[in-house]
Parts: sequence; structure tokens; C-alpha cells
Amino acid sequence: MSFTFKDFPADRDDLRADVLNGLASSPKSIPPKYFYDEAGCRLFEAICAQPEYALTRTERALMASRLPDIAAAIGPVDCIVEPGAGDCAKVRLLLDALHPAHLVVLDIAGDPLATAAEALSRDYAGLAVTALGMDFVHDLEAAAPHLPAGRRLVYYPGSSIGNFPPDAATALLTRFRQLAGAEGQLLIGFDLKKDPQRLHRAYNDAAGITAAFNLNLLERLNRELGADFDPSRFSHYAFYNPVAGRIEMHLVSLAGQDVSVTGRRFHFALGETLHTEHSYKFRRDEFSALANSAGWQLAGEWEHDGFAVQLYGSR
Ligand code: AVI
Repeated sequence: MSFTFKDFPADRDDLRADVLNGLASSPKSIPPKYFYDEAGCRLFEAICAQPEYALTRTERALMASRLPDIAAAIGPVDCIVEPGAGDCAKVRLLLDALHPAHLVVLDIAGDPLATAAEALSRDYAGLAVTALGMDFVHDLEAAAPHLPAGRRLVYYPGSSIGNFPPDAATALLTRFRQLAGAEGQLLIGFDLKKDPQRLHRAYNDAAGITAAFNLNLLERLNRELGADFDPSRFSHYAFYNPVAGRIEMHLVSLAGQDVSVTGRRFHFALGETLHTEHSYKFRRDEFSALANSAGWQLAGEWEHDGFAVQLYGSR
């Protein structure tokens, strides 16, 4: 086993600048990546266990049941690269099936990534694991020296791509070609368009966990930026917009109110929204058109109960 960790704290996002910027915009918004502080990560795990939110369970079932086909379509690989790997749990199935010599995991949350990647490296004798604490959305340059030569597979599961607007998704998929290299491949999982009532329920679970996840963003700003949001004066509001093909999550102000963030005051009118997330849903052909525009060519696809996994090679 070998394990290497490299942290790039300077590449991290600036919560303060992004929040001040988002609150000064119209409509007000905050990027969804800021959901994931420690409490937010725990709440997201709890969302994945809710009966209404099938996305994570469905992807796991699809990967487990179709793994031999998927592995055969991928063929031999020297390295798996997983951006946004988090707890490094999902990649284990692929490691078992593909037996690469290297695994490179990237995540903005460097310390939890390092802990998970080191634990994983203990379970896979002979696997060289590199963990990179970096913001892969903005900067992949720093990752280049850590990518071994040979055939690389970029793995991006969990429909995380759906949290990017189309232009940003295309830009990210283009960056993934850098990570994969000329002969590389991309295996990506995304949520499919389906009955809007089912989608609506997934983001409005009866136990209120998604609401708590959304409102935790305000609590995070109170904790980390000394803001004075009163979460009880905002309402979690999530709905499926069939014209745009996405779930929209908002925090809607229940009163006219002023909020102070790092000494700056922002006014919320009654009913004004703070937009917190888009979660795009795709048809398989829509997604492959998006991936084509980033230079990827469809090489295989699998579908199960409203979720798809597609395999791409470079064109
Ligand atoms: C991480 N991402 C794919 C989740 C989604 O479904 O868009 C985040 C989430 N937001 C609310 N529930 C789950």
C-alpha cells in the first residue's frame, strides 16, 4: 500500500467573497458547494437514506448489478481519478472490478478526503492512492503532476454534474478530458427526467431532512461569517421546473428583514428568495449531446429506475 496526500488550501474558494457577492446579486444566490460543511455532509448522508430520495441507492444498485458489463466496456485501466470523491465509498466497487495500480481522489474538503483515502489504501494492498485537497472545478493544473501515465478513467458518480448549469457542466466535462488524458475515459452517473411528482417528493421529504440541509446553509454563515440569519424566518422551497428540466431549491424570506453578514447589511423583502441550488435532470440523449460538446464520445450506457450511467471515450 502507498498513500500520498497533498493539500492546496490556496486554491479553495472564498466563502466570504462568494456570499457577499451572491447576496448583492439579484436574485440573491449562494453556490450549492457551500452546503457541505461538517453538518451539511451529515445531513446529505441522511437525505440519501430517506425513502423519497432514491438517487444514491439506485445508482449503487445499478453499479452493483451491471458491474461485469461496465468493467468489460471500460477494459484495462492503470488509474482511476475521482473528482469530488468525499468519503471514497463509491469507487470501491470499481477498484474491485478493474484492479488499477493507481487511484487519484480529489475533493475541496482536504482533511476528510485524506482520512477516507488513507483508510481505503489500507484495504487495497498494492494500490497507490493519491489524495489531492483542491477545488477541481476551478483549477486542475495543480493535479497534472500527480497523474500517472497510462490509461486513466475519470469517475464522476452521484449526479453531481446536475448541480452545474449547462455552460459550467460543459466546461467541467472539458476539464475532465485533461484529467483523463488523450486515451482516457469518463464514467459518469446522472439522474434522469421522470415523473415531476416523484422528483418533487425527493426534494421535499416528509422527515424534513432536505429542508434542514437547505437551512443549514444559513446556520453555516452564522457560524463561519458571524452572520445573524434567523433560519426560522426562511422557508425551504424546492420544486421541479419542467421548462428548465431542473429542481430549484430556494430559501424564501417569510418577512421583510435585514441580515448582517461580516458587517454588511442586506435587506430581504417578504417573499424574496435566496436561490441555493439547481439540480438538473437529463434524458440520456440530452446528456450525451452535452458530453459531445465537451469532446467526449459515448461508448456505453446503463439505466436503472430513473438513473443512468454512461461511459465515454475521447473523440
Ligand atoms: C449532490 N447532489 C447530486 C444532490 C442533488 O440531488 O442534486 C444534492 C441534493 N440537494 C438536495 N438534495 C440532494
